[in-house]
Formats: sequence, C-alpha cells, structure tokens
Amino acid sequence: MADPSPEAPAAEMLELARAAMARAYAPYSRFAVGAVVRGENGTLYAGCNVENAAFPLGSCAEASAISALIMAGQRRIIEVLVIGEGPALVSPCGGCRQRLREFADDATPVHICDPDGIRRTLTLGELLPLSFGPANLSA
Ligand code: THU
Repeated sequence: MADPSPEAPAAEMLELARAAMARAYAPYSRFAVGAVVRGENGTLYAGCNVENAAFPLGSCAEASAISALIMAGQRRIIEVLVIGEGPALVSPCGGCRQRLREFADDATPVHICDPDGIRRTLTLGELLPLSFGPANLSA
C-alpha cells in the first residue's frame, strides 16, 4: 500500500475514527474523542477515550489505538488521525504526543479532524519538537 498523502487521508481512516469516537465512554467530560493509527503494514487501528469515576484513571483515545496496534503485533506508526467536536482543534494532549513518539517519527503526519473532516495536518515533530525517544536510551 502506498503512503497516503498527509493532505488527503483516506476516507477509510476518517470513517473509522468517526465510528471510534461514537463509542467513546466519556460520561464525565462529555467530550468524545476517536483516534486511528496506521501501522507499517497499512492496517488501521482505532481507539476511543475511556473515562473513569476516579478521574485520573481515564485514558485517551490515542492510548487505546496504540494498544490495538501493539496487540496486532505492529511496532511502527506511519500516520495518525485524531477526531473530536468543538471550535478548538482537538490536538493530541502532551502525554499522547509522547506515547505516539515511542512508535512514530518526527515526520509522521498527524491529522486533526472534526466530524466534517480534516482541519489541520501537522507532523509529530511539529507537535513535539526535540523529543525524547527510544534512541536516547540506545548505546
Ligand atoms: N482526550 C483524548 O482522548 N485525547 C487527547 O489527546 C485529548 C483528551 C480525552 C480525555 C478525556 O476523556 C477527554 O478527552 C477530555 O479531556
């Protein structure tokens, strides 16, 4: 499968993200988020946010999508899409930028979307410059 252009994420990726967002468990914030990551094999893995009555235990949509990718035996992320509603860009939180960094590169495109489609595409390096990653720990 060819690398998709950052300007035109596959409709499939957006559709999967919308479906993931619809499954969010967010009774406390009422802010549903969906995330999709594309593995090196081209396959898409989706996740949603899952909140908890003990608030700090809630998890982000990106964390759940990464878990699905890892469970499928993948180790690299080549494209990311995050979706949420509202006037502000639903950009990955700081913690999720670092989570993504573990498996993605500075050049990896991150599509920030609302239910109507892509609003902005940035690279992970733009979202998390001068990041600390696995290479920092290799001799
Ligand atoms: N949230 C995500 O799922 N991903 C992000 O990158 C930002 C925030 C979720 C966490 C919480 O369930 C809700 O959005 C409100 O913060």
